[in-house]
Amino acid sequence: MIDRERLSDLLARERAAFVATHPRSADAYAAAGSLFGRVPMTWMNKTAGGFPVYAAGARGARVTDVDGHGYVDFCLGDTAAMAGHSPAPVVEAVTARLAAGGGLATMLPTEDAAWVGAELARRFGVPRWSFALTATDANRWAIRLLRAVTGRPRILVNSYCYHGSVDESLIVVGPDGDSVSRPGNVGAPCDVTTTSRVAEYNDLAGLERELAHGDVAAVLMEPALTNIGIVLPSPGYLAGVRELTRRYGSYLVNDETHTFSAGPGGATAAWGLEPDVVTIGKAIGGGVPIGAYGLSAPLADLLSGRDDLDLVDMGGVGGTLAGNPLSVTAARATLEHVLTAPAFDGMTSVATAFANGVQEVIDRFGLPWSVAQLGARVEYRFCDPAPTSGGASAAAADGELEDFLHAYLLNRGVLLTPFHNMALMCPETTLADVATHHELFAAAVTELVG
Ligand SMILES: Cc1ncc(COP(=O)(O)O)c(C=O)c1O
Repeated sequence: MIDRERLSDLLARERAAFVATHPRSADAYAAAGSLFGRVPMTWMNKTAGGFPVYAAGARGARVTDVDGHGYVDFCLGDTAAMAGHSPAPVVEAVTARLAAGGGLATMLPTEDAAWVGAELARRFGVPRWSFALTATDANRWAIRLLRAVTGRPRILVNSYCYHGSVDESLIVVGPDGDSVSRPGNVGAPCDVTTTSRVAEYNDLAGLERELAHGDVAAVLMEPALTNIGIVLPSPGYLAGVRELTRRYGSYLVNDETHTFSAGPGGATAAWGLEPDVVTIGKAIGGGVPIGAYGLSAPLADLLSGRDDLDLVDMGGVGGTLAGNPLSVTAARATLEHVLTAPAFDGMTSVATAFANGVQEVIDRFGLPWSVAQLGARVEYRFCDPAPTSGGASAAAADGELEDFLHAYLLNRGVLLTPFHNMALMCPETTLADVATHHELFAAAVTELVG
C-alpha cells in the first residue's frame, strides 16, 4: 500500500529540510574529524536526518539542540533516561556527592550501594547484587559466573535479541532454521555457534531442542523482546521457559534493562517470573552510567563456596569503577524518588494513551501495521498482526519508511528512538506531548497514503 517512489521523494524532502534547519549541528559534525565516523560512538551515525542533532541540553521529557530547536523526547536515551533527563533528586544527590562528599574513585565502598542492592532485591526478587558500569558488562559478568558454576560452555539467546555488545548474543536462527552468526557481527573471537545456541522467542519446541544438548549454562533473555520492536510473550511461554530451563539444568537470566518499563520490578515482578539472575542498567542510574546483576541465594552461595574461582582479582569478573560512589548515589536517588511505583502508574497510563492514539491512526487509514505496549514503552511495527518472534519482527522492518517517519517527526520537534519506532514515557511526559506525536504521525501518514 506504500508507493515507494512517493516514499523516497518524501524522505529526500525531509532530509533536505533537516539539513537546512540544522546548520550548527552540520558544522559540529563537519568539524569532528578527530572522531572515528565523526561521532563519539559509531552507532550515533544511525540518524534519519543524515547527521546527528547536537544536544544543547535536556530536562524531563524535553531536549534542546544547538540550533535552538526544542523536542519532545520519546527516545529518552533508549531507556537510559526513562527517569526523565536530569531529574531533580538525582541532580541534587550527584551534586552533593561530587561537591560536598567528593571522592568518586577511591576504590572504597559507600553505603548507598547496599541500599540500592536491597531495593533491587525487593523489586526484582533476587537477593545478592553486584554492580557494573553498563548493562553489557552486567550480562558479560553474569555469563562468566554461570559458565563457572555449571561447567557448561554455551549460552542460549533468542533470535534477534539485543543484550549489548555481548559476543555470545550475536547469533540468529538462519533461513533454513540453522544457527548462524548475526549479519554484521564485528570481529567475532570465534564462531558464535561454538559458544551459543539460539531459539526463536515464543518457540518452546525450539528451545527444548537446543537445551536437550545438555551444554547450555544459561538462557539469557528479555522477558519480552524490545530491541527488534516489542514482541510480547504468548500465554504460557515464559512459564514454559522456566520449566524447561529447570528440567535441563540451565540457569535463567532475565535481562530487564528495557523491560524495566513494565513496572517498578520490571517484567519479573509484573508477571511473577522466577529467574536465577536479573541483569539491568541504563535507567536505574537516572542518566549516570551503571549496570547491575542480581543472583538468587542458592546461586550466590554456590559461587561463594567455589575457592577455585578468582572473584577478587584477575578472574575475569570486575571493573575498577564498577559500583563507584557516583553511580550508586544516582541509582539510590532514582529508585527512592523518581522511578517509584506511583510514577510507573502515571507513565503507563500515558503510554496507553500513546498506544491507543497510534492504533486509531492505523485504523483510520487501514494500515497493515500494529502497535504493542510494555508498561511505559510503546512501539509500532509495519506488520499486522504483531510479530510473535524476533525473526518475524526483523522481517517486517522497513528502513526507508522508518527513516521517513523519524525525519518527519524530528523536523517538527518529536524524537523517537533511532533504532526502531519506540516511544518511551518518563514521569514528566504529558498527554499533550502524546497528542503532539499523534497529530504529526497522522499528518505523515496522510502524506504517504492519504
Ligand atoms: C536488553 C538490553 N540489555 C543490555 C543492553 C546494553 O546496554 P548498554 O549499552 O548500556 O551496555 C541493552 C541496550 O540497549 C539492552 O537493550
